[in-house]
Amino acid sequence: MSLVKLDIYAVRNIQHLTLSPSPTLNFIVGANASGKSAFIEAIYILGRARSFRTPSIKSVIHFAHNQLLVSAQTLQSNGSQLHLGIQLDSKNFCCRINQENTQKRSDLAYALPLQIIHPKSYELLDAGPQLRREFLDWGVFNDNANFLPVWRHFKKALAQRNALLKTRELKQLNVWDKELVYYGTIVNQYREDYLQKFKPLFTAINQQFLDLPQLDIKLISGWDTCHDFHAVLEADREKDLRYGFTHSGPHRGDFHLLVEQRLAKDVVSRGQLKLLVMALKLAQVQLLANEHDHKACLLIDDFAAELDVLNRAKLLAYLAQLGGQVFITATEQADLGDLSQLSNYKMFHVEHGNIKQV
Ligand SMILES: Nc1ncnc2c1ncn2[C@@H]1O[C@H](COP(=O)(O)OP(=O)(O)OP(=O)(O)O)[C@@H](O)[C@H]1O
Ligand SMILES: [Mg+2]
Repeated sequence: MSLVKLDIYAVRNIQHLTLSPSPTLNFIVGANASGKSAFIEAIYILGRARSFRTPSIKSVIHFAHNQLLVSAQTLQSNGSQLHLGIQLDSKNFCCRINQENTQKRSDLAYALPLQIIHPKSYELLDAGPQLRREFLDWGVFNDNANFLPVWRHFKKALAQRNALLKTRELKQLNVWDKELVYYGTIVNQYREDYLQKFKPLFTAINQQFLDLPQLDIKLISGWDTCHDFHAVLEADREKDLRYGFTHSGPHRGDFHLLVEQRLAKDVVSRGQLKLLVMALKLAQVQLLANEHDHKACLLIDDFAAELDVLNRAKLLAYLAQLGGQVFITATEQADLGDLSQLSNYKMFHVEHGNIKQV
């Protein structure tokens, strides 16, 4: 998948911008506050229907406007063209795929699989489990078409069960326990299956960029898997009723990244943590390319802040052989290193929210 033509309206300091990117590497260079992250944010919004920088979309919309719009002509992996669009104001959003409206973010996400590496990406390993759950589920969602319907059934059962816990309607609880166990067990199995495929790719990328010893990823299911999920729900029932929500299940799932059997975030340097996050994200993109011949779009904001000189060169070589579309921002062209070995890339310059191909 690649963006063939991109239109952005009213995203941060970008009033209107039209661009025809390269299907491979695109470099976006500009001074501080020129609009580089805004540009990356716009593409991210098109694929994920939200910002990666803030939960408040209002702050992303240009001050002089009350809605933003991002649209793109895309070339899909099967050779077909899809026109994607998203319009957001501070309350509502509307997505369009080939001129048809859809309210499903997942439709956009399938059409435009995106991964992003930015200066706060290390939070993936540093912060709470929600980001890691989202990361894992992005991979499973793109790898296994059955995941989304199963996940939706699970979420529905969870919402119903939590509502019953709050109103203490115990009679119906058993019905929803069964649903929760049925779909929750499948969600957990899909995550486990995905991680099994993911690990060797992640290990290979680690060897190229970090070479940390005894790296492992362990799925945290969200319940004590020494017991079956149903037994855990029964044992938790008193507690669940007292607090009015379900304590155990894949909605509390996570994964632990271990280096020599210790949590990576507790033992590696900040630079290594950033590289590990990069390796995790590259492994997801690589898995999608290997298993489905589906090339995700990769966004790298603030290239120089993420990597030292050697790793920048290695990453560019890696991305060039991966062959997908990539957008990389930097404040100076020199930060990108030697580009002489690369072909088919495009270089853009950003200034005051305007972009020009160099
Ligand atoms: N809602 C908004 N409307 C208009 N301008 C905004 C809005 N939000 C932020 N800005 C401005 O947009 C400009 C571009 O910000 P952006 O974060 O994209 O810069 P950048 O090029 O990534 O800079 P840096 O190199 O420092 O990361 C900034 O001057 C910022 O103040
Ligand atoms: Mg920036």
